[in-house]
Amino acid sequence: QWGLQTNWLGKQIIHKATTNSTQQVAHQAARENAEHGTVIIADEQTEGKGRMERHWHSPKNKGIWMSLILRPPIPPAAAPQLTLLTATVLADVITEYTTASPNIKWPNDLLIRDKKTAGILTEMQAEQDRIKYVVAGIGINVNHSYDNFPSEISNKATSLKLETGQDLQVVPIIQHILRCFERSYDAFIRDGFSTIKNKWESYGYKIGEAIKIRTNHEILEATFTGIAEDGALLVHTDSDGTRKMYSGEIEWFRK
Ligand code: BTN
Repeated sequence: QWGLQTNWLGKQIIHKATTNSTQQVAHQAARENAEHGTVIIADEQTEGKGRMERHWHSPKNKGIWMSLILRPPIPPAAAPQLTLLTATVLADVITEYTTASPNIKWPNDLLIRDKKTAGILTEMQAEQDRIKYVVAGIGINVNHSYDNFPSEISNKATSLKLETGQDLQVVPIIQHILRCFERSYDAFIRDGFSTIKNKWESYGYKIGEAIKIRTNHEILEATFTGIAEDGALLVHTDSDGTRKMYSGEIEWFRK
């Protein structure tokens, strides 16, 4: 069973063999007053959701598909910091648990050797200045072989197994994630984002390098200098000096 060493996270676990999306299950449960720390896990998702309305391919027993219901006492504007927190936790767990060296591509992608291994989808329900709940969705490609990926993404996606040659059990990884997440979340709620910033930067992809960022209205070329105290992306351009970016995507470019 669950050798789960947490105080509050995962005290309620909803496990589904198959579901459309653990995000949807989590939203429904949260609307029905599921408690802070409820975890939804599926072996397979038929309509896994990624950021920007993308599909998240979630084949049976190949990965970790889970959503955490959180009720954080923080303002809605700080919720994106939870994405960075989650990414840092996943990077730590992958580092401790496998031989791979992950990077975090701002804001929410985990890469190993430039290929995407995991993604995070943080969704929030807020009213005025109060968060009702946050659903932190975590998808990790664990045991995929090459032909488990659809051809459109096979050149930019990977799995822990493909990168390390290790056959990994998902249950201990899930337990480890929940334990690290709880510790990191408790520190964040107590002492703020400064508890995460340095660690995030130590995993940061392309820090110090030229990047292109696509936002809704522009593609900006700039040097990625780090993240701000509030989790924003810090970039520098010769024309504008330092800028803070709160949304957008770093363009994908392979070496
Ligand atoms: C992304 O990189 O675009 C985010 C991917 C998030 C995928 C996870 S899998 C568990 C949870 N349920 C979903 O439908 N999506 C998230």
